[in-house]
Amino acid sequence: MARSHHGEPGGPDAGRGGGGRSGPRGLESGGLFDRGAGGPGSGGLFGCVPGAEVFDALRDAPAVVDFTPGRPDLSTFPRAAWLRAERAVLAELPAEQLGYGDPRGAPPLRRAVAEWLARMRGVRVEPDAVLIVAGTAQALTLLHPVLRADGVDAVAVEDPGSLGARQHLANGGLATPPVPVDEEGVRVDALRATGARAVLLTPAHQFPTGVVTSGERRRELLEWARDGGLILEDDYDAEHRYDRPPVPALRALLADRVCYLGSVSKLLAPALRIGWLVAPARYRAALVDAKRFNDLGNAVLPQLVLARLMESGQLERHLRTVRGRHRRRRDAMIAALAEHLPGARVHGAAAGLHLTVTYASDVPDTAFAAAALARGVKCQPLSWHRQSPGRPGLVLGYAATPPGVVAEGVALLGRVLRELG
Ligand SMILES: Cc1ncc(COP(=O)(O)O)c(C=O)c1O
Repeated sequence: MARSHHGEPGGPDAGRGGGGRSGPRGLESGGLFDRGAGGPGSGGLFGCVPGAEVFDALRDAPAVVDFTPGRPDLSTFPRAAWLRAERAVLAELPAEQLGYGDPRGAPPLRRAVAEWLARMRGVRVEPDAVLIVAGTAQALTLLHPVLRADGVDAVAVEDPGSLGARQHLANGGLATPPVPVDEEGVRVDALRATGARAVLLTPAHQFPTGVVTSGERRRELLEWARDGGLILEDDYDAEHRYDRPPVPALRALLADRVCYLGSVSKLLAPALRIGWLVAPARYRAALVDAKRFNDLGNAVLPQLVLARLMESGQLERHLRTVRGRHRRRRDAMIAALAEHLPGARVHGAAAGLHLTVTYASDVPDTAFAAAALARGVKCQPLSWHRQSPGRPGLVLGYAATPPGVVAEGVALLGRVLRELG
């Protein structure tokens, strides 16, 4: 997850108008897809075992349609509301508050986050238990030494699971034994068999399969945790759901065995680099120390602006707006996949900002992604996120792309797969 798990903030959304146009500029003339927008380098990008730099390379690769997962609809960033809130904050801010802040975060934001977590995720915490961090990425960075000091040398990860998260843990000197994910969530028998004392999970909407951890599996997980396990709960896109009821966070059920990680990267924009970490009480002092030594605390002004947006209900309003847009884009992608990749299976589309598709042919997904990028459509191969072999597939982010463009991009994917197969 260095920089981003599986996505990067792109430029402004190509379709500000929300899908009124039939396709991205250049497509109407029929040209760009066939001119090799990804260039000759796209095979190289997918041709070897992905290292940490692969996300930068993918972000920089030119494309006409960008299905990189992990990006919300950035064109709807509430710029006017943000500016108003920032003006109000600056008008009232006493000069001394421009000094160094509390390393745990600005008190108004810690209060606002505690209220948000109670309302949206069923997690009840005191503001004092909330540590404001620079995104989930930094939460993991702070956790590495604290976990190692507690004797944890391995953090089990979901398989398939986020390549970026796995790279991040490995960079922190932690082993990442894989635990298979089935249609109910991570397999707890296999988790026990790893012997790892900690596991990193995305229980509300598993990345990349989109599986929601079932009630039975949640019970098994909590039992594993009660026996001495520690769950790192990455709640990265839990607020984005369409056709299913909210699933409460695991943290709400077992406070002293779950470290809860959240951020505004999917709610507002990854560029803000603001997130929160709610850890069991025994880790808190060490994590505050780690944060202090890391950067003396997040920048104060954006924290205060965000606190205002949360307290005033504007963040929730924003979420409702983007939810409608995201749903239309998702529906466009599902319809286009049914038309252009018949026989393919769509996974995890009830929530989140992406879906995963597995297809019937044996074309390796890296070859598929490379050929698609060479023709102007950017996406991630599912195998990037696998440690053990499994069906090939693609991880397709739809949230940042208007419906008409989604349809054209998927049509191109269908043509590419037919050509390869
Ligand atoms: C699984 C997962 N968790 C969390 C994040 C967010 O990371 P951050 O909060 O550091 O932006 C991402 C970003 O792509 C992700 O893919």
